[in-house]
Amino acid sequence: MSNKTVLSGMRPTGKLHLGHLHGVLENWKNLQKQYSCYFFVADWHSLTSEYADTVNIKSNIHDMLINWLSIGIDPDRATLFVQSEVKEHSELYLLLSMITPLSWLERVPTYKEQMDNIRDKDLGTYGFLGYPLLQSADILAYKADCVPVGIDQVPHIEFTREVARRFNFLYGNVFPEPESLLTDYPKLPGTDGRKMSKSYNNSIYLSDEDAVISKKIKTAMTDPQRVRRNDPGDPDVCPIFAYHKIYSSAEQRDYVVKGCKTAAIGCIECKNILTDNILSELGSYRKKRAELLENPDHVNNIIERGNEKARELAARTLEDVREKMKI
Ligand code: TRP
Ligand code: SF4
Repeated sequence: MSNKTVLSGMRPTGKLHLGHLHGVLENWKNLQKQYSCYFFVADWHSLTSEYADTVNIKSNIHDMLINWLSIGIDPDRATLFVQSEVKEHSELYLLLSMITPLSWLERVPTYKEQMDNIRDKDLGTYGFLGYPLLQSADILAYKADCVPVGIDQVPHIEFTREVARRFNFLYGNVFPEPESLLTDYPKLPGTDGRKMSKSYNNSIYLSDEDAVISKKIKTAMTDPQRVRRNDPGDPDVCPIFAYHKIYSSAEQRDYVVKGCKTAAIGCIECKNILTDNILSELGSYRKKRAELLENPDHVNNIIERGNEKARELAARTLEDVREKMKI
């Protein structure tokens, strides 16, 4: 057990898919065994782009926490909380905004990219420009040492380090400079071979019914060179095999590799093995989820306890901050 603090957040944008599960959440499950972990639902962050449509936000927050718990994020190891329940994030965000040059925010790559690519929403707001600074406040409020994020978020952590350095330079040392924790897990492709993403319509969701999952796998892309049943295939270029790497036993994988390369098995058999494995793993997840849904008091207690613990730590940081700023 290390005494480093690890912190990460996720926006409550609806359903989780298998890509989230095997990318981010498996990683969190490992981290909670080794570090003092803080995982939170970044609901204010989702407002930076979804401000016009807020009806689902509360249920999405709750749903996300239930998903975390049911896949094995353990509230006795990690602190789970909701960003908007810890008002210290907003105070720190405001104080940091006083010392953050506008040009630093304008040059963050995700900002430019999204401004250029997202056409259906008006992102020309102060809140959207401030997105990375709110993230910095999230991280610095806990003096986090490590932040597990995807590669697209690395510039935000770099930005946070600059903000921390500037604060420390102006007022005295308060903040450690956080580091990004990049884990290279194999990316789980969508059923069409592209990145699994809600907007590509190629995702398998944790909440999908068994029949829906079977059908998605049945119609999923395979090695495009394997046109006929008797053509040998190459598992390395097949998205189905990427799933076997996660869901199937070593024996099953061997069987599939040999059978595919020699055309001894067909894609239908190969997919059936996979479907059984995915359904049995999601079955245990669903069982836990159903138990949690029946026990809202238990879930609310966990969240309350997490919020409380987060508040205590963040409040101490803010005392340091005000003292150093002499306010
Ligand atoms: N911006 C992150 C994302 O889109 C979510 C997030 C908000 C976050 N605050 C954070 C991640 C603090 C790590 C640390 O994925
Ligand atoms: Fe892909 Fe399996 Fe078909 Fe080979 S047999 S191409 S691994 S689905």
